[in-house]
Formats: sequence, structure tokens, C-alpha cells
Amino acid sequence: MANEVMIETKGLTKKFGKLLAVDSLDVKVQKGVIHGFVGPNGAGKSTTIKLLVGALRRTSGNGFIKGYPIGSVDARRAIGYSPERPSFYKDWTAFDYLVHMAALSGIKTDEAERRSQDLLDWLELSDFAKAKVGGFSAGMKQRLSIAQAMSHKPELLVLDEPTANLDPEGRMSLLQKLKSLPQEQGVTIFISSHILSELEFLIDSVTLINKGRTVAEDSVKVMKEEIALNRYVLNTSNNKAVMKALQGHAAIQRMELDNDGSIHISSPDMGQLQSAVMEAVTKTGSLLKYFGEEQVKLEDIYRSTMDQGKDK
Ligand SMILES: Nc1ncnc2c1ncn2[C@@H]1O[C@H](COP(=O)(O)OP(=O)(O)OP(=O)(O)O)[C@@H](O)[C@H]1O
Ligand SMILES: [Mg+2]
Repeated sequence: MANEVMIETKGLTKKFGKLLAVDSLDVKVQKGVIHGFVGPNGAGKSTTIKLLVGALRRTSGNGFIKGYPIGSVDARRAIGYSPERPSFYKDWTAFDYLVHMAALSGIKTDEAERRSQDLLDWLELSDFAKAKVGGFSAGMKQRLSIAQAMSHKPELLVLDEPTANLDPEGRMSLLQKLKSLPQEQGVTIFISSHILSELEFLIDSVTLINKGRTVAEDSVKVMKEEIALNRYVLNTSNNKAVMKALQGHAAIQRMELDNDGSIHISSPDMGQLQSAVMEAVTKTGSLLKYFGEEQVKLEDIYRSTMDQGKDK
């Protein structure tokens, strides 16, 4: 099923002098998904992305886009890339710039014009179509860069922190738009960010990277299930008393009271834990408000995996 894979890297490595910016990275992204590429500042996200789009040469290892070697004409043609810090000719208008870029990738002028106008509308830039890009705010430039990345109808959109310069409303609005692309246009999206919570609703799978190395990679669903395993949330009318009653019980590995006022419990035995909780609630005369499996957020996965990368 090799043709179902959009991006694959094997031991992809980039050194800047002695610095290992990308260290034997193995990434696999299926076609038609939105894949998050998440890590802290300096993790190697932009360097990896530049390797993928052919803007930087790798030190060792391999990478493929649709099976084509990264940097090859076929691989590049499949990609629309919006860099971390887009730069433009400042005297051009947004519309002329988009038409020019689309024409460069071989699209006929009338189609390039139509497509540019559609993209400006879609990214809420149509009021500024005839304005010079030099006067654009950072957020507007970022959206224009995404329009440019999409101008030749690429199969793969590679977006390096596309929301970095947008206000909270602009971020949500852009991410909502991106979310519909795989279904509506069959596009695959590779999107980097260091803000996990905002990507959570958007991505199907994720690679967590730290210090140039993958610290976790899987579908978001599987990751959440793995972490949620054996973790429960309990809330009662008298949490402190219930915790005291549960203290030292064989069914409890770990127990802590969260800032939001609920008890988080790790337990290897759901059945035993359930009996213990019921007993503690009855004994303390408390009211049971909630007892169930922990709903894990991407943020929790991030925190629990980033430490692995730290000692590297
Ligand atoms: N051209 C370069 N020359 C030397 N070192 C570089 C170069 N580009 C990046 N680096 C270094 O490589 C490491 C990874 O940088 P990179 O820009 O890929 O991180 P990032 O995950 O994109 O970070 P951020 O979230 O800040 O954008 C950093 O230590 C950075 O200083
Ligand atoms: Mg970066």
C-alpha cells in the first residue's frame, strides 16, 4: 500500500556543523490526513519541513513524497509550502502576486486569475486584493502565504506554524477552513505548531518532536487511548474526605486532586477501584458527582512524552 503514503522519512538527518538539528527522524503520513508536527522552540520542526520541501539538503537518511525522493521535481510538484516567515515582493498587489506564482507553476492565466480570486475570498483577503503586500500585517502575510501555497492545487500542503501571527479569532477561523480540505479536495496537510491545544480538533495523527528526535508518533486516537488506559476521574461533594478514605487502597496506584477540583486516579483494576470508590463515598456520606475514564487531551500526551526527549 505504498501509494497510500504521502510522506515517509527514514533516518532523516540534518546537521548544522556539530548541531544535530534533525536526528534520524522516521515519519510516516498517510494520504488524506491532517498530520500535526509538534514540538517546542528549536525542536527541529522548520528544519525537517525544509528538508521535506527540498529547501535544504539532508546530511543523511532518506525522505519520500508520494514515493518520490525529497527534493526531486516530482516530489516538489506535489507540495504547496507556506514557510515560517514568508517574504514577498512588497510592491506587488496580493492578487498579482498570487497570479504570478500560479502562472509560474504552469497554470494558464485565466485559470490562475480565477483561482487567485477564489483563494483571496476563501482566506478573507479579497478586500485587500489590489493592495500592496508591503502594507500587509504579519497575519495578512501569513494568510497570503497559505493562498500562495494552494495556488497550484497541491496534493500536499506543508504549513510551518501557519497560525503564529494570527489573533485567536483568526487562528480558529483558519484552522476551521483547513479542516475541511482533506474531505473536500483530497488534500493532505502537514502542519507544525508548538501550540498543541489548538491543533487537537484538527489533526488525525501527530508526530511529537524534541531535540531533533521523534518522541511519539501515532494516530491521535490511539495515543489518547494508550495514555487514558488505567486512568480515572472522580468527583464527589467531599473530595478531601473521599481521598482520605481511599488512601492506601490496593486498587490505587496514584491519586491526586487537580486544580479543577476533581480526583485523578491511576488504577490497574477498574472493578476493584469501583467498589473502593463506592465504599468511600458511602462511608464519608458524600455525593458521587462523577466517576469515569480520563478524557485525555493532546497536551497530556505532550507533557508525558517530552521528558523522554529532554535527556537526549
Ligand atoms: N541555518 C541554520 N544554521 C545553523 N543552525 C540552524 C539553522 N537552522 C536551524 N538551526 C538550529 O537547528 C535547531 C532546530 O531549529 P528549527 O528552526 O528547525 O526549530 P523549530 O522546531 O522550527 O523551532 P521554532 O518553534 O522556534 O520555529 C535549532 O537549534 C536551530 O538553532
Ligand atoms: Mg520553526
